Amino acid sequence: MPPETIILLSSREIAKMRQAGRLAAKLLDHLEPMVKPGVSTLELNDEAERWTQEHGAKSAPLGYHDFPKSICTSVNEVVCHGIPNAKQILKDGDIINIDVTPIVDGYHGDTSKTFFVGTPSPTAKKLVEVTYECMMRGIAAVKPGGRIGDIGAAIQEYAESHGFSVVRDFVGHGVNRIFHTAPQIPHYGTRGKGKRLRPGMVFTIEPMINVGTWEVEVLADKWTALTKDRKLSAQFEHTVVVTSDGVEILTLPEEQAQIKSA
Ligand code: MF3
Ligand code: CO
Ligand code: CO
Repeated sequence: MPPETIILLSSREIAKMRQAGRLAAKLLDHLEPMVKPGVSTLELNDEAERWTQEHGAKSAPLGYHDFPKSICTSVNEVVCHGIPNAKQILKDGDIINIDVTPIVDGYHGDTSKTFFVGTPSPTAKKLVEVTYECMMRGIAAVKPGGRIGDIGAAIQEYAESHGFSVVRDFVGHGVNRIFHTAPQIPHYGTRGKGKRLRPGMVFTIEPMINVGTWEVEVLADKWTALTKDRKLSAQFEHTVVVTSDGVEILTLPEEQAQIKSA
C-alpha cells in the first residue's frame, strides 16, 4: 500500500484506538500533579515510563527514529520534541507541553497538553488558552464529507485573530498501528480544500501556536524544535476519529467524547 493511502478503521479497530487513547489521557492526568517548580523533565519521563509499563503498554517515542526517551517535554520556546533531561528543572512561570503515546495491543494513543508551572505570565496564559481553543475548533470542524482544509482554516483563523502564529513545519497525522501515517493534517489552510473526510479516518489534531514568528529551528540533537525568535510556543493534541455524523475524541479519560460537528 502506498504511504499516501488513508486507512479507514473498522469499529473493532476504533475500539482498540479508544483503549490506547484512554490510557494516554490517563497518563497525562497521572503526570499533571508532578508538574511543579523543582521537578526535572527526566523525572516526568521516568514516571511516565514506569506507569506505562505498569499498565502493560509500551512508550512509542522510545527508540522511534532513535528518539532517546519515552515522552516529549517541550518547555517555553520549545515547539515540540523536547527531550527529557535531568538538568532541566522546571521553574515558576514556565509552560511545558507533555506529549505521550502509549501503544496498547498494537494501537497508538497520541495526546498532549500544555501545563503551567506555578503562575503563568499574562502572555503565557493567553497563549495556552488560545491554543487549547484552536485544537477544539479544529476538532469541531471535522465531519464526514468535510475537507482536511476545514480543520486548518478553523485553527489558523482563531490563532491569528489573537495575533499568534501557526507552526507550518509540523502537522497532525494519521495514527493507528502506525505512529505517523497518512493523512497529514496542517493546522493552517483553506476551507473546502484538501482530501475529503470519511467515517473511519483516524488522525491527530495537534496545533503548535507561537507568540511571535511561526518559523522554527531544530537543535543539533536533531529533535528539539524551537521558535526562531525564542518566543513562547504552546501545543495541545488529541487523536480523533471521523464518525458517521461528526467526530469522536479518542484521547479522553472516560466516555465523554461524542461531538456533533458544527
Ligand atoms: N507524539 C509526537 C506527535 O504528536 C511524536 C513524537 S515522535 C518522538 O506526533 F520521536 F519525538 F517521540
Ligand atoms: Co503526540
Ligand atoms: Co501526534
